Amino acid sequence: MAEMMWAGRSSQGVDSRVNAFNSSIAFDGRMYKQDIQGSIAHATMLGEQGIISMSDSLELIGGLKEILADIESGKLQFDMTAEDIHMFIEAELTKRLGDVGKRLHTSRSRNDQVALDIRLYLRDAIGELRELVVSLVRVLCNIADENTETIMPGYTHLQRAQPITFGHHMMAYAQMLLRDIERFDDTLRRMNVSPLGSCALAGTTYHINRDRTAELLGMSAPMVNSLDGVSDRDFCIELASAISICMMHLSRFSEEIIMWCSWEFKFIELSDRFSTGSSIMPQKKNPDVTELIRGKTARVIGDNMKGLPLAYNKDMQEDKEAIFDAVDNLKLCLTTFIPMLETMTLYKDNMRRAAAKGFINATDCADYLVKKGMPFRTAYKITGGLVAHCIELGTTLEELPLADYQKQSELFTEDVYDAISLDTCVKERKSFGGPAPESVKTQIALTRKRLEELCNG
Ligand code: ARG
Repeated sequence: MAEMMWAGRSSQGVDSRVNAFNSSIAFDGRMYKQDIQGSIAHATMLGEQGIISMSDSLELIGGLKEILADIESGKLQFDMTAEDIHMFIEAELTKRLGDVGKRLHTSRSRNDQVALDIRLYLRDAIGELRELVVSLVRVLCNIADENTETIMPGYTHLQRAQPITFGHHMMAYAQMLLRDIERFDDTLRRMNVSPLGSCALAGTTYHINRDRTAELLGMSAPMVNSLDGVSDRDFCIELASAISICMMHLSRFSEEIIMWCSWEFKFIELSDRFSTGSSIMPQKKNPDVTELIRGKTARVIGDNMKGLPLAYNKDMQEDKEAIFDAVDNLKLCLTTFIPMLETMTLYKDNMRRAAAKGFINATDCADYLVKKGMPFRTAYKITGGLVAHCIELGTTLEELPLADYQKQSELFTEDVYDAISLDTCVKERKSFGGPAPESVKTQIALTRKRLEELCNG
């Protein structure tokens, strides 16, 4: 049985099973830096306000800095029987400073302390995730730049639909990831406010300065309501949602990579360094990384929170494992995904061969007739007939003799072959956002410009 620091009214120690069940240090220990950062700001403000003496304030700050250095150098290990990281650090401080250490928790509660720590921790995590997503978008722009003329089939219903380029396809993901960055920024804006000074739930009678602690912590303002300050974890849910969306983008990309690597497609090959083999089938080269990303996406999307009365409830301790798991996994996925993309080989001939089959120029054939004055629906019908005729003969629209075309409509002349060539089909799709090389170059330029704004703005 252990005597707890919060043993106020209780006369008996806590059963060791409850202690183990209650303890969160195994997963909140990772917030040690942010916990100390928050305590330093709190101790500074207490001293400045004259709530504790200036010399106690300075001693507390010095002690906290030493604890941080000792944890970082490995000299100080967490006591895994401690209830949580907050108790561990406060107990350690008191061990080192005696009664002065006991003054730190004046006009503070673990409720506002933990609400602050998670915000600070996730603020740092967003910074790291954002940087990784930015570098992924940069890689995509580079791949796209080299492949504005690499023709491949675009698909709907996983059926060959219309010709696009590999560069165009990469830029679609770049746009999704740009929005992910914006979602992280938006989440951060609402997250970066200070709950410190909310105390247990009802503020305090001490003359604290909440603006000052917010300022010291680089937060935009103190939170306006003390109950709200300790009660809500909406910022965790927002971040979990932003991470889930980003993971969903990575998982769709991964799914396509898995298909493109198969012998059925063979559009790309991943580097041996980013593939795995089979223990029984010597010929195998498996895209495990992308499959794991797909799997981890389901895991991240699954995490969430339920309804609780105000203010603090112990259920809220459960927020950390879920959001930390989401952060860790997105970081892990991006760290592996980026170099995997950078080292993949493209089989452009296979892409082009795939684009040449499946009548993906049928829309262009119909458009050819429309440009010569025929209504679109009529042109659509005639082209459908031509495709059926080609399938019967085992040929393509490119190879079908002009006489067969002219049997369907006298508007067809020799220039139809140029109009339906894959190169023309792509080159002419120069509408804003389309796959034509010049359109994709515009997309790349706009994306790079937006990245600049997001990184420097
Ligand atoms: N370990 C707790 C958590 O993460 C800290 C807050 C404890 N507060 C309390 N009143 N029991 O939520």
